[in-house]
Amino acid sequence: MRLKGRVSIVTGGATGLGRAVALAYAREGASVVIADIADAGAVVAEIESDGGAAIYARTDISDEQSVAAMVRGAVNRFGAVDILFNNAAVSASLELKPFEELSVAEWRHVLDVNMIGSFLCAKMVSPIMRAQKSGSIINIASGTAFKGTPFMLHYVSSKGAIISMTRVLAHELGTDDITVNAIAPGYILTEGNLGNADFLADQGDKAIAGRALKRAGYPEDLIGGAIFLASDEARFISGQILAIDGGSVYH
Ligand SMILES: NC(=O)c1ccc[n+]([C@@H]2O[C@H](COP(=O)([O-])OP(=O)(O)OC[C@H]3O[C@@H](n4cnc5c(N)ncnc54)[C@H](O)[C@@H]3O)[C@@H](O)[C@H]2O)c1
Repeated sequence: MRLKGRVSIVTGGATGLGRAVALAYAREGASVVIADIADAGAVVAEIESDGGAAIYARTDISDEQSVAAMVRGAVNRFGAVDILFNNAAVSASLELKPFEELSVAEWRHVLDVNMIGSFLCAKMVSPIMRAQKSGSIINIASGTAFKGTPFMLHYVSSKGAIISMTRVLAHELGTDDITVNAIAPGYILTEGNLGNADFLADQGDKAIAGRALKRAGYPEDLIGGAIFLASDEARFISGQILAIDGGSVYH
Protein backbone atom coordinates (compact mmCIF):
# COMPACT_ATOMS: atom_id res chain seq x y z
CA MET A 1 0.00 0.00 0.00
CA ARG A 2 2.70 2.48 -1.02
CA LEU A 3 0.13 5.00 -2.32
CA LYS A 4 -2.41 4.70 0.50
CA GLY A 5 -4.69 7.73 0.71
CA ARG A 6 -3.33 9.36 -2.47
CA VAL A 7 -5.53 10.61 -5.28
CA SER A 8 -4.31 9.81 -8.78
CA ILE A 9 -5.38 10.84 -12.25
CA VAL A 10 -4.47 8.35 -14.96
CA THR A 11 -5.06 9.71 -18.46
CA GLY A 12 -5.62 7.11 -21.15
CA GLY A 13 -6.46 4.54 -18.48
CA ALA A 14 -9.18 2.74 -20.45
CA THR A 15 -6.67 0.41 -22.06
CA GLY A 16 -2.99 -0.44 -22.55
CA LEU A 17 -0.33 0.91 -20.23
CA GLY A 18 -2.72 3.36 -18.55
CA ARG A 19 -5.12 0.56 -17.62
CA ALA A 20 -2.32 -1.52 -16.08
CA VAL A 21 -1.12 1.49 -14.06
CA ALA A 22 -4.65 2.48 -12.94
CA LEU A 23 -5.19 -1.04 -11.57
CA ALA A 24 -1.75 -1.00 -9.91
CA TYR A 25 -2.28 2.42 -8.28
CA ALA A 26 -5.62 1.22 -6.89
CA ARG A 27 -3.98 -1.95 -5.51
CA GLU A 28 -1.41 0.32 -3.79
CA GLY A 29 -4.24 2.19 -2.04
CA ALA A 30 -4.71 5.25 -4.28
CA SER A 31 -8.07 6.52 -5.51
CA VAL A 32 -8.05 6.66 -9.29
CA VAL A 33 -9.65 9.06 -11.75
CA ILE A 34 -9.48 7.54 -15.20
CA ALA A 35 -9.52 10.33 -17.78
CA ASP A 36 -10.02 8.95 -21.26
CA ILE A 37 -11.89 9.74 -24.43
CA ALA A 38 -12.85 6.05 -24.53
CA ASP A 39 -15.15 4.42 -21.97
CA ALA A 40 -13.24 3.17 -18.93
CA GLY A 41 -16.27 1.75 -17.08
CA ALA A 42 -14.82 -1.77 -17.15
CA VAL A 43 -11.58 -0.64 -15.46
CA VAL A 44 -13.55 1.25 -12.79
CA ALA A 45 -15.67 -1.87 -12.17
CA GLU A 46 -12.51 -4.01 -11.86
CA ILE A 47 -11.02 -1.60 -9.30
CA GLU A 48 -14.27 -1.41 -7.31
CA SER A 49 -14.70 -5.18 -7.27
CA ASP A 50 -11.23 -5.38 -5.69
CA GLY A 51 -12.32 -2.91 -2.98
CA GLY A 52 -10.68 0.17 -4.51
CA ALA A 53 -12.08 3.61 -5.36
CA ALA A 54 -12.22 4.89 -8.94
CA ILE A 55 -14.26 7.09 -11.24
CA TYR A 56 -14.31 7.50 -14.99
CA ALA A 57 -14.22 11.04 -16.36
CA ARG A 58 -14.81 11.21 -20.08
CA THR A 59 -12.05 13.60 -21.19
CA ASP A 60 -10.44 14.78 -24.38
CA ILE A 61 -7.02 15.85 -23.12
CA SER A 62 -6.51 18.14 -26.12
CA ASP A 63 -9.53 20.23 -25.02
CA GLU A 64 -8.84 22.76 -22.26
CA GLN A 65 -12.44 22.85 -20.96
CA SER A 66 -12.64 19.08 -20.89
CA VAL A 67 -9.42 18.76 -18.87
CA ALA A 68 -10.50 21.54 -16.48
CA ALA A 69 -13.84 19.78 -15.86
CA MET A 70 -12.08 16.45 -15.27
CA VAL A 71 -9.70 17.95 -12.68
CA ARG A 72 -12.60 19.76 -10.94
CA GLY A 73 -14.47 16.45 -10.82
CA ALA A 74 -11.44 14.72 -9.28
CA VAL A 75 -11.18 17.34 -6.53
CA ASN A 76 -14.95 17.31 -5.89
CA ARG A 77 -14.98 13.53 -5.54
CA PHE A 78 -11.68 12.85 -3.77
CA GLY A 79 -10.58 16.25 -2.35
CA ALA A 80 -7.07 16.40 -3.81
CA VAL A 81 -4.80 15.44 -6.71
CA ASP A 82 -1.52 13.86 -5.63
CA ILE A 83 -0.45 11.98 -8.76
CA LEU A 84 -0.86 12.73 -12.45
CA PHE A 85 0.04 9.79 -14.70
CA ASN A 86 0.13 11.81 -17.92
CA ASN A 87 -0.17 8.94 -20.38
CA ALA A 88 -2.95 9.39 -22.96
CA ALA A 89 -1.68 9.72 -26.51
CA VAL A 90 -2.30 8.87 -30.10
CA SER A 91 0.10 6.03 -30.77
CA ALA A 92 -0.93 2.48 -31.67
CA SER A 93 -3.44 3.67 -34.28
CA LEU A 94 -0.79 5.51 -36.32
CA GLU A 95 0.17 4.37 -39.77
CA LEU A 96 3.92 4.09 -40.39
CA LYS A 97 4.89 6.37 -43.29
CA PRO A 98 7.83 8.40 -44.62
CA PHE A 99 7.80 11.96 -43.33
CA GLU A 100 7.18 13.39 -46.82
CA GLU A 101 3.78 11.69 -46.78
CA LEU A 102 2.64 13.20 -43.50
CA SER A 103 0.03 15.94 -43.80
CA VAL A 104 -0.08 19.04 -41.62
CA ALA A 105 -3.44 17.79 -40.29
CA GLU A 106 -1.85 14.51 -39.11
CA TRP A 107 0.98 16.45 -37.42
CA ARG A 108 -1.44 18.79 -35.69
CA HIS A 109 -3.62 15.97 -34.39
CA VAL A 110 -0.66 14.10 -32.87
CA LEU A 111 0.82 17.26 -31.35
CA ASP A 112 -2.59 18.42 -30.07
CA VAL A 113 -3.12 15.22 -28.13
CA ASN A 114 0.38 14.03 -27.20
CA MET A 115 2.06 17.37 -26.52
CA ILE A 116 -0.63 20.00 -25.84
CA GLY A 117 -2.81 17.42 -24.06
CA SER A 118 0.00 16.51 -21.65
CA PHE A 119 0.69 20.21 -21.08
CA LEU A 120 -2.98 20.94 -20.33
CA CYS A 121 -3.21 18.12 -17.77
CA ALA A 122 -0.07 19.39 -15.98
CA LYS A 123 -1.37 22.97 -16.12
CA MET A 124 -4.75 22.08 -14.60
CA VAL A 125 -3.36 20.02 -11.70
CA SER A 126 -0.65 22.55 -10.95
CA PRO A 127 -2.72 24.96 -8.75
CA ILE A 128 -3.94 22.03 -6.66
CA MET A 129 -0.51 20.49 -6.21
CA ARG A 130 1.08 23.89 -5.52
CA ALA A 131 -1.52 24.60 -2.81
CA GLN A 132 -0.83 21.16 -1.29
CA LYS A 133 2.96 21.74 -1.61
CA SER A 134 3.24 18.18 -2.88
CA GLY A 135 2.54 16.05 -5.92
CA SER A 136 4.06 13.78 -8.54
CA ILE A 137 3.66 14.16 -12.26
CA ILE A 138 4.76 11.25 -14.42
CA ASN A 139 4.81 12.00 -18.12
CA ILE A 140 4.98 9.25 -20.69
CA ALA A 141 7.65 9.71 -23.33
CA SER A 142 8.96 6.90 -25.54
CA GLY A 143 12.23 5.19 -26.35
CA THR A 144 11.61 6.22 -29.97
CA ALA A 145 12.62 9.79 -29.05
CA PHE A 146 16.13 8.55 -28.14
CA LYS A 147 16.37 6.16 -31.10
CA GLY A 148 14.99 8.44 -33.83
CA THR A 149 12.72 5.59 -34.94
CA PRO A 150 11.77 6.27 -38.58
CA PHE A 151 8.34 6.53 -40.24
CA MET A 152 6.53 8.22 -37.37
CA LEU A 153 8.13 11.64 -37.30
CA HIS A 154 5.12 13.41 -35.74
CA TYR A 155 4.83 10.84 -32.93
CA VAL A 156 8.56 10.67 -32.18
CA SER A 157 8.78 14.49 -32.19
CA SER A 158 5.84 14.71 -29.78
CA LYS A 159 7.66 12.37 -27.41
CA GLY A 160 10.88 14.40 -27.70
CA ALA A 161 8.80 17.36 -26.56
CA ILE A 162 7.60 15.35 -23.55
CA ILE A 163 11.22 14.83 -22.48
CA SER A 164 11.95 18.57 -22.67
CA MET A 165 8.65 19.42 -20.97
CA THR A 166 9.51 17.08 -18.11
CA ARG A 167 12.77 18.89 -17.42
CA VAL A 168 11.24 22.38 -17.58
CA LEU A 169 8.26 21.45 -15.41
CA ALA A 170 10.59 19.81 -12.87
CA HIS A 171 12.26 23.21 -12.39
CA GLU A 172 9.07 25.29 -12.41
CA LEU A 173 7.11 23.00 -10.05
CA GLY A 174 10.07 21.99 -7.89
CA THR A 175 9.74 25.28 -6.00
CA ASP A 176 6.57 23.79 -4.46
CA ASP A 177 8.05 20.33 -3.80
CA ILE A 178 6.31 18.76 -6.78
CA THR A 179 8.31 16.13 -8.66
CA VAL A 180 8.06 15.74 -12.43
CA ASN A 181 9.58 12.71 -14.12
CA ALA A 182 8.98 10.71 -17.27
CA ILE A 183 8.93 7.08 -18.24
CA ALA A 184 10.21 6.19 -21.69
CA PRO A 185 8.75 2.77 -22.50
CA GLY A 186 10.20 0.54 -25.17
CA TYR A 187 7.89 -1.34 -27.53
CA ILE A 188 5.22 -2.93 -25.33
CA LEU A 189 2.68 -5.54 -26.38
CA THR A 190 -0.54 -3.69 -25.60
CA GLU A 191 -3.85 -4.59 -27.22
CA GLY A 192 -3.44 -1.54 -29.47
CA ASN A 193 0.01 -2.55 -30.69
CA LEU A 194 -1.06 -6.17 -31.17
CA GLY A 195 -3.89 -4.83 -33.35
CA ASN A 196 -1.55 -2.83 -35.62
CA ALA A 197 -0.07 -5.50 -37.91
CA ASP A 198 2.37 -3.17 -39.72
CA PHE A 199 3.67 -1.81 -36.45
CA LEU A 200 4.03 -5.28 -34.94
CA ALA A 201 5.87 -6.60 -38.01
CA ASP A 202 8.20 -3.57 -38.05
CA GLN A 203 8.83 -3.17 -34.32
CA GLY A 204 8.18 -6.51 -32.61
CA ASP A 205 11.28 -8.68 -33.34
CA LYS A 206 13.49 -5.62 -33.91
CA ALA A 207 12.70 -4.33 -30.42
CA ILE A 208 13.59 -7.66 -28.80
CA ALA A 209 16.81 -7.99 -30.82
CA GLY A 210 17.96 -4.55 -29.63
CA ARG A 211 17.42 -5.28 -25.93
CA ALA A 212 19.68 -6.57 -23.21
CA LEU A 213 16.74 -8.69 -22.02
CA LYS A 214 15.60 -10.84 -24.94
CA ARG A 215 11.87 -10.88 -24.43
CA ALA A 216 8.74 -8.92 -25.29
CA GLY A 217 7.58 -6.12 -22.96
CA TYR A 218 4.10 -6.21 -21.39
CA PRO A 219 1.97 -3.48 -19.74
CA GLU A 220 2.72 -5.01 -16.31
CA ASP A 221 6.42 -4.25 -16.86
CA LEU A 222 5.62 -0.54 -16.41
CA ILE A 223 4.01 -0.92 -13.01
CA GLY A 224 7.12 -0.97 -10.80
CA GLY A 225 8.47 2.30 -12.22
CA ALA A 226 5.05 3.97 -12.23
CA ILE A 227 4.48 3.18 -8.54
CA PHE A 228 8.02 4.09 -7.51
CA LEU A 229 7.96 7.52 -9.19
CA ALA A 230 4.59 8.29 -7.55
CA SER A 231 5.71 7.15 -4.10
CA ASP A 232 7.56 8.86 -1.25
CA GLU A 233 10.58 6.72 -2.10
CA ALA A 234 11.12 8.98 -5.14
CA ARG A 235 10.58 12.31 -3.37
CA PHE A 236 14.12 13.60 -4.18
CA ILE A 237 14.03 12.50 -7.82
CA SER A 238 12.85 15.02 -10.41
CA GLY A 239 13.41 15.86 -14.07
CA GLN A 240 14.48 12.29 -14.83
CA ILE A 241 13.57 10.03 -17.73
CA LEU A 242 13.31 6.36 -16.72
CA ALA A 243 13.65 4.00 -19.69
CA ILE A 244 11.60 0.85 -19.17
CA ASP A 245 12.56 -1.15 -22.21
CA GLY A 246 14.51 -4.25 -21.22
CA GLY A 247 17.81 -2.38 -21.62
CA SER A 248 17.56 -0.76 -25.02
CA VAL A 249 18.34 2.98 -24.86
CA TYR A 250 20.96 4.64 -22.67
CA HIS A 251 20.98 8.36 -22.01
N1 LIG B 1 2.81 0.59 -26.12
C1 LIG B 1 4.02 0.95 -26.47
O1 LIG B 1 4.78 0.19 -27.09
C2 LIG B 1 4.53 2.31 -26.11
C3 LIG B 1 5.90 2.57 -26.27
C4 LIG B 1 6.38 3.82 -25.93
C5 LIG B 1 5.52 4.79 -25.43
N2 LIG B 1 4.19 4.49 -25.29
C6 LIG B 1 3.34 5.54 -24.76
O2 LIG B 1 2.64 5.02 -23.64
C7 LIG B 1 1.35 5.63 -23.55
C8 LIG B 1 0.27 4.57 -23.55
O3 LIG B 1 0.43 3.80 -24.71
P1 LIG B 1 -0.54 2.57 -25.02
O4 LIG B 1 0.24 1.66 -25.91
O5 LIG B 1 -1.15 2.07 -23.79
O6 LIG B 1 -1.62 3.32 -25.92
P2 LIG B 1 -3.12 2.90 -26.28
O7 LIG B 1 -3.37 3.43 -27.64
O8 LIG B 1 -3.31 1.44 -26.03
O9 LIG B 1 -3.96 3.71 -25.20
C9 LIG B 1 -4.00 5.10 -25.24
C10 LIG B 1 -5.22 5.57 -24.48
O10 LIG B 1 -5.29 6.99 -24.63
C11 LIG B 1 -6.62 7.34 -24.94
N3 LIG B 1 -6.67 8.59 -25.69
C12 LIG B 1 -6.29 8.81 -26.97
N4 LIG B 1 -6.52 10.09 -27.31
C13 LIG B 1 -7.07 10.69 -26.23
C14 LIG B 1 -7.53 12.01 -25.96
N5 LIG B 1 -7.51 12.98 -26.89
N6 LIG B 1 -8.01 12.28 -24.72
C15 LIG B 1 -8.08 11.32 -23.77
N7 LIG B 1 -7.66 10.05 -23.98
C16 LIG B 1 -7.17 9.75 -25.20
C17 LIG B 1 -7.16 6.18 -25.75
O11 LIG B 1 -8.59 6.15 -25.76
C18 LIG B 1 -6.53 4.99 -25.03
O12 LIG B 1 -7.34 4.53 -23.98
C19 LIG B 1 1.27 6.60 -24.73
O13 LIG B 1 1.70 7.86 -24.30
C20 LIG B 1 2.26 6.01 -25.71
O14 LIG B 1 2.72 6.96 -26.62
C21 LIG B 1 3.67 3.28 -25.62
